[in-house]
Amino acid sequence: MINRNFALEYDKSWTRYDLIVNLFQLGRDTLHRKKALLFGGLKTGDTVLDLCCGSGLSFKAIQSIIGSHGKIIAVDANPYMLQLAKNRAKKNGWDNITFIQCPIEDLQINEKVDFVFFALCWYDKDLSARWVLKVSEFIKADTGKICFFDYKMPDNWLRPFIKPILWLEIKWLGEAYTVDELDWKPREIIGSMLSDVKFTKYYFDCLFAIAGKPIE
Ligand SMILES: C[S@@+](CC[C@H](N)C(=O)[O-])C[C@H]1O[C@@H](n2cnc3c(N)ncnc32)[C@H](O)[C@@H]1O
Repeated sequence: MINRNFALEYDKSWTRYDLIVNLFQLGRDTLHRKKALLFGGLKTGDTVLDLCCGSGLSFKAIQSIIGSHGKIIAVDANPYMLQLAKNRAKKNGWDNITFIQCPIEDLQINEKVDFVFFALCWYDKDLSARWVLKVSEFIKADTGKICFFDYKMPDNWLRPFIKPILWLEIKWLGEAYTVDELDWKPREIIGSMLSDVKFTKYYFDCLFAIAGKPIE
C-alpha cells in the first residue's frame, strides 16, 4: 500500500469529489472543518499549510478564521483536484492563497507556517508519519501546530448503518483504502506522532479532529 500513488486515485473521481464529501456530512462539511480548525488553535492572521488540499474544500473555513491578513499555502499532487481548488479561490476572490502542485514528499517552501492542516487525507501510519516529519521543518518552532481532520467509524448504535454508507462513499470515490481501515484508533495512532496532543470527535462520532505540535 505504501508505494501506491494515492494522488492518482482522484483522476477518476475529481468531478464528484465535493458532492460525495458533502453528502456524507449532510451539507455541513465547512462547519465541521471550521470546528476542527478552531479546536486545533487556528487564529486570525495565521499562515496555513493546507496539505493534500484537494479541491479546496477547507478554504472557506480557513478564510473565515484567518481573515484577509492570513495566508494559505495549498499543496496537492493531483492536477485536476488542484485546478478545482484554484477555480474555487478565483470564484471567491481569495487572493491570499499560493498553490503548489507537487507530492508532499518533494515539497519545499521558504517560510515557516503557523498551522498545518491534514483534512481527509489519512492513508496509513507510515506514510502519514513521513509526511508529519517532512512538514515539521516548515512549522514555526514553539507556536506552530499540526491538525488532522478525518472520518472514523462510530462506536455507537449508528455503526451498522454508517458502515455501508462509508463503504459506498469509498467505492464511489475510488479511494485506495477499505472501510475496515476506518475502524482504527486515530487518537492513539496520530497522537503518537505529535506532542501536546488534544483530540475530539463529533458528528455522531463519525468525524474527529486531533491537534498537537511536532515532536522535537
Ligand atoms: C481525499 S482527498 C482530500 C482533499 C482535501 N484535503 C479535503 O479535505 O477535501 C486527498 C487528496 O490528497 C492528495 N494526495 C494524495 N497523495 C498525495 C501526495 N503524496 N502529495 C500530495 N497530495 C497527495 C490527492 O491528490 C487528493 O487530492
